[in-house]
Amino acid sequence: MKKIDLVVGARPNFIKAFPVYRALEELGCFELRLINTGQHYDDNMVAVFFEQLKMKEPDINLGIGSGRHGEQTARILDEIEREFMSQKPDLVIVFGDVNSTLAAALAAVKLHIPVAHVEAGLRSFDRTMPEEINRVLTDQISDLLFLSSPEAEDNLFKEGKDKNQIHFVGNTMIDSLICFQPLFDSARIKDSFNFQDKEYILITLHRPSNVDDPANLEQLIASLNRVAEIAPCLWPVHPRSREKLETIRAKTHHRLVMTDPLGYLEFMGLQRDAAVVITDSGGIQEESTFLGIPCLTVRDNTERPVTIEQGTNKLVGTEYSNIPAVVRETIVEKIEHKVPELWDGDASGRIARVLSQW
Ligand code: UD1
Ligand code: UDP
Repeated sequence: MKKIDLVVGARPNFIKAFPVYRALEELGCFELRLINTGQHYDDNMVAVFFEQLKMKEPDINLGIGSGRHGEQTARILDEIEREFMSQKPDLVIVFGDVNSTLAAALAAVKLHIPVAHVEAGLRSFDRTMPEEINRVLTDQISDLLFLSSPEAEDNLFKEGKDKNQIHFVGNTMIDSLICFQPLFDSARIKDSFNFQDKEYILITLHRPSNVDDPANLEQLIASLNRVAEIAPCLWPVHPRSREKLETIRAKTHHRLVMTDPLGYLEFMGLQRDAAVVITDSGGIQEESTFLGIPCLTVRDNTERPVTIEQGTNKLVGTEYSNIPAVVRETIVEKIEHKVPELWDGDASGRIARVLSQW
């Protein structure tokens, strides 16, 4: 049997990779290994996803942890290269745009192991984002490019990729959403904060451009305090943001509630029932589009334009003082939306079928 290694490491990777693992497992014609780099390691960033998405334990845990970009990427590269050399997979599959994605792809390609990139071709055209560098470089060295959105094809053509490498399969993050939707459950959390459906705002913000600079973060909190005057807000805080918030000790409105990161089923239940989502997350722009929940993205650009053109996403930019007015407007608006093409729960099945022919 041909050997395939699937590499994960950060929270969004788990959600994108699990349905692909399952679809390949069902085919029964590959020997699969799941390698977890350990880029993320807190239980509420990792273990809860393995448990809730009913995923087997990784075959290999590299235990890399946090570090500067060069440091973290280099450590993954070093450790995963050893794994690839000892086990010689026939294909390595990487997901999304995190440092683990690029490091695994680079290690594989130098050993002449073909690489498949799931979520290829997305571009924000903003090279100050570490993710954009990871996307461009990973696509450049990947042999198989699995696309979640049609406009990604053009981006890849412009970068010289060949048509026969490209497969528009749909969105594997939405596969997880569709599969686990019946189990979404936020009742306990809503009860504990006395939130009513469609009357609260869900927030997640963790992009370095929003949270790393203390003065910037203070302005962001000031704006969110004004949003909390409009409706109660819940912010499950990413560990990067938690660390930065601790350094500024900003005063928060009593209706701006912060919690630890939440499990997938709880978070998705809260997202489904929210009035509005305020975020800078890539994945949440897509999930909210699928669910039809208005999404305000606190960024100047997005690599996921389909969520604006067809979905419920609006770029509010990084002039934070504008956010409350946009929230007021959005909360009463009826937003028309479409579910983008092939976001139908079978993207992973398509990937498995392509690979079975490959
Ligand atoms: C990474 C990805 C980002 C993705 C996000 C998903 C890169 C360059 N960035 O950002 O694209 O949107 O994951 O959540 O790969 N930390 C903990 N516990 C953890 C993980 C992180 O405390 O389990 C803290 C550490 O202080 C760490 C910081 O968070 O230094 C940042 O973690 P890191 O993985 O470097 O980047 P993210 O901001 O999580
Ligand atoms: N998510 C979660 N709990 C949380 C916050 C997010 O389960 O407290 C899920 C969210 O629904 C989405 C994924 O994590 O499926 C997005 O990950 P993240 O925002 O960390 O990364 P990005 O998509 O920005 O790379």
